[in-house]
Amino acid sequence: EKGGYPWFMLKEIEEQPQAVADTLRGRLGDQGEILLDEVRLTDQDLRDVDKIFIVACGTAYHAGLVAKYAIEHWTRIPCEVELASEFRYRDPVLDRSTLVVAISQSGETMDTLMALRHAKDQKARVLAICNTNGSTIPRESDAVLYTHGGPEIAVASTKAFLTQVAACFLVGLHLAQVRGVKFADEVGAIVDQLQAMPGLIKRVLSTMDGVRELGRSLASQSTFIFLGRHVGYPIALEGALKLKELAYVHAEGFAAGELKHGPIALISEGTPVVAVVPSPAGRGFLHDKVVSNIQEVRARGAMTIVIAEEGDEAVVPYADHLIRVPRTPTLLAPLVTTVPLQVLAASIADARGHDVDQPRNLAKSVTVE
Ligand code: BG6
Repeated sequence: EKGGYPWFMLKEIEEQPQAVADTLRGRLGDQGEILLDEVRLTDQDLRDVDKIFIVACGTAYHAGLVAKYAIEHWTRIPCEVELASEFRYRDPVLDRSTLVVAISQSGETMDTLMALRHAKDQKARVLAICNTNGSTIPRESDAVLYTHGGPEIAVASTKAFLTQVAACFLVGLHLAQVRGVKFADEVGAIVDQLQAMPGLIKRVLSTMDGVRELGRSLASQSTFIFLGRHVGYPIALEGALKLKELAYVHAEGFAAGELKHGPIALISEGTPVVAVVPSPAGRGFLHDKVVSNIQEVRARGAMTIVIAEEGDEAVVPYADHLIRVPRTPTLLAPLVTTVPLQVLAASIADARGHDVDQPRNLAKSVTVE
């Protein structure tokens, strides 16, 4: 059943190119149009949206954080992302023109379900992004976009995350098209770039031997710091979460720019710091800022593990360990930069002798609030 892999998680990590291709399949038209006919919200409903809330838990919440950057950039609709368990208790401002997007692999997470029920009570429209056909969250939503990632057995989420991110990209592009925002002309180019992502994820997977070895060499470390900016920030959070879940190691993700406002005090000689570096192409200023953040931690003794694009030479002098990913547009980068962090966490956990599929204290789907 594990297809020759020692853990379901390793199988699911390897399935990611296919899973993302399955999320995109049939939804990208030849003319660059995004076909989401199965989403039962009319174009008029979507044109009326003036605010978006994304609600989710755990890894799905991190997918929502990535989505915010893309959706706001493409649609110009304000988009907030909130932990489902916090959302309804703070009395959010919702009405008929609010779109609430609930992201859940299982479709059964009680915190997310309660958030969506609250949104519906306030007359907001609810779109579910879900992997499990016919589960409660899509049944109670106004519309659903299934991720079609296939069953995910390992408790900690991997392929579900990438498919959630891909599905959010589809929602953002579809909204932009329906609303005719100026950017809609560029959608065709982004569609092509999105189509290429499964192939790029596959390429990353073919270069993971060094990351596995690195994981084994770091297995006795007791704390890790993850840094990112822009869409790299939620990926830093996700990398830290994977390590906590799988390896039971203290790990924290920070926005790279926030480091100097406090967390840099944590750095001492040899502290492992994993940095997700944005593409130097496109938004070059983001790239340069992260490179200087890496220099700052290294000057204070950190051991730097740098995830950077092929051809990015600026990072080389500051990387104790360098992990390369293929060049992608900035917003789509999470689909490749997440992969080495999953592999790193799994190999550290395995080296520490833990059950990678069934971490202690965790359940695949948490049906209590
Ligand atoms: C957690 C799982 O409890 O629920 C995580 O252990 C998951 O892996 C989170 O990300 C949210 O689950 P779902 O099914 O709503 O995406």
